[in-house]
Amino acid sequence: MTADHRHDLPRMAAACGERTGLVYVCNPNNPTGTIVTRDDLGPFLGRVPKTALVLVDEAYHHFVEDARYASAFEWVGKIPNLLVVRTFSKIYGLAGMRLGYGVGTLETIEAMRRHRIWSNTNASVLEAALASLEDAGHVPRYRRAINETRRWLCAELDKDGRAHIPSEANFVMIDVGSDVEPVIGALRERHLLVGRKFPSLPTWLRVSIGTPEEMKTFLAGLRAVLPRLEIRTA
Ligand SMILES: Cc1ncc(COP(=O)(O)O)c(C=O)c1O
Repeated sequence: MTADHRHDLPRMAAACGERTGLVYVCNPNNPTGTIVTRDDLGPFLGRVPKTALVLVDEAYHHFVEDARYASAFEWVGKIPNLLVVRTFSKIYGLAGMRLGYGVGTLETIEAMRRHRIWSNTNASVLEAALASLEDAGHVPRYRRAINETRRWLCAELDKDGRAHIPSEANFVMIDVGSDVEPVIGALRERHLLVGRKFPSLPTWLRVSIGTPEEMKTFLAGLRAVLPRLEIRTA
């Protein structure tokens, strides 16, 4: 990752060799919420050896507003070793239904088909996915609501002088300044459930964006918990 928490695509491409099997790019990235830009992704896709599969995970695609972002869909058909995946778990709120899809060349899809289990989804899940796709207003409505709430939360964090990573997803990473584990525990005591600790970012708390009321409650909890922890460790 770069210092500003984005995929370091030039370094990733340089690290590829003939033994590389899979290159994974999460865009926007979980857990940082950062994006790789269209201008960076295109040359990268051209640089990865064709013997390696490039998996671009666009689980959080629908939340992005940054104009520099582009879905990797535009390179499908041009870059043969590219597979783009999406899920119904995020913007469509169907987490737990385990439904997603991949878009790639016929060869890639055929290679994956060999590993498919015969019952890989069920009728109710497919029905829910179709209903989601038919609700044309859902994506822009939900994107706006989540992004407005995230911007509000980030503005409040700025007032507190608390660092956060600029996010294009439905969560944000907040620097709590010390090991995040006790903070997660203290929030849980207040019935506030946040993301787990990510070992490579041990002082960062990942919180998913909910309703404005939920985020107000979260912020009040965070403000209550952080000074308390600082006093305890002083
Ligand atoms: C980057 C990313 N991809 C995929 C998924 C999960 O998708 P699914 O629920 O379809 O397995 C998640 C969920 O946390 C995710 O963060």
